[in-house]
Amino acid sequence: MALVIKGASLLGETSADLLIRDHVIAEVGSVDAAGHEVIEADGLVALPGLVDLHTHLREPGREDAETVLTGSQAAALGGYTAVLAMANTTPVTDTAEAAVRVWELGREAGLVQVQPVGAVTRGLGGEELAELGLMARSRAGVRVFSDDGRCVHDARVMRRALEYVKAFGGVISQHSQDPTLAGSSACCHEGEISGRLGLPGWPGVAEEVVVARDVMLARHTGSRVHVAHVSTAGSVEVIRWAKAQGMAVTAEVTPHHLMLTTDLLTGYDPTYKVNPPLRPDEDVAALRAALADGTIDAVATDHAPHARHDKEHAFTDAAFGMVGLETALPVVRTAMEAMSWADIARVMSHTPARIAGLDGQGQALVPGAPAHLVLVDPSAVVRVDRDASASLSRNNPWHGRELTSRVVHTVYGGRVTVRDGVLA
Ligand code: DOR
Repeated sequence: MALVIKGASLLGETSADLLIRDHVIAEVGSVDAAGHEVIEADGLVALPGLVDLHTHLREPGREDAETVLTGSQAAALGGYTAVLAMANTTPVTDTAEAAVRVWELGREAGLVQVQPVGAVTRGLGGEELAELGLMARSRAGVRVFSDDGRCVHDARVMRRALEYVKAFGGVISQHSQDPTLAGSSACCHEGEISGRLGLPGWPGVAEEVVVARDVMLARHTGSRVHVAHVSTAGSVEVIRWAKAQGMAVTAEVTPHHLMLTTDLLTGYDPTYKVNPPLRPDEDVAALRAALADGTIDAVATDHAPHARHDKEHAFTDAAFGMVGLETALPVVRTAMEAMSWADIARVMSHTPARIAGLDGQGQALVPGAPAHLVLVDPSAVVRVDRDASASLSRNNPWHGRELTSRVVHTVYGGRVTVRDGVLA
């Protein structure tokens, strides 16, 4: 039996039916639904399935915070059909075996494509390169490498990593943060508010100097660097300049950095503790402008689930990170009112798929394309309830907020993973 999606508005524009058969979109247009499974999509916007360049799934090692299965469930509920699983698990994804294990867990869960990110350095230690080539040649086919959570701060190591991954079209996703400027006790953005609250902070320039160094290393090596979770106006300036020079740099911004600011720290609520930290209004405005004009290529969640016993502490001691898979699309829609659905598809699906080299993902909804898609109610206004989440963790900064638009159905490889907002 085939699946027919009736009357969806493709990218918020023309309305059409979609016939899905054998995992692909077989027809787009006017389809006779008789005898097929039907999804009524009148009033819903159809987008290609979302692709997240930056997800922490915590398995292996911290299955109390998230597993590949629960993270995949949260991703499907958020409209995702592919996520890149960051390497800072226990053990670290720094070998081919470890990468293949994450990839297999993703296939067993079967709700989204789980594509492992390989560590750049062994044990995230920052010194010795991990098994980059073996991970790339493994069944997992790793293309994105990152020590995320930590910066590859040694310029020589970064240079070697860029040279190495160039051979197979890989990319280094950098957590740009100079550790000597950030300091080990810092817990938020350094500025007027951190001073007033008595919290140790680190300045935006700790990010900017690494972004500047890395674009020059990308030019020198002829390789590709991707700037993870850009958070400052200064980083945007550097990236804009580097792109104008033709350097091979791409960048992502998180939904939280598009909407939340340092002011939220005045209640000392550790929910708002994240790395890179929430920044002042001026940075948020620059990030929004950069996403709108294409300087920032993609939105990535940095979904970072944490168990209560790691997060519910005094601000200075709590873990960094917030969950975000289930709310990303509504947050982007709410923060970026002027963006069209085609723009949203570009920054949340097409471009991230291209950056990660995921061929079957992020494709236009045309006959012959793999059937990965999401159907969104564009006018729904939903109040976020952290306890309604599929994630095992509750560090949700959007709890109680109203956001515009709602993911109604998700289809992964022709199979409905989410129906009417509920896991199918
Ligand atoms: O807030 C963060 N949490 N930033 C990171 O870079 C790592 C992440 C985590 O793994 O919890």
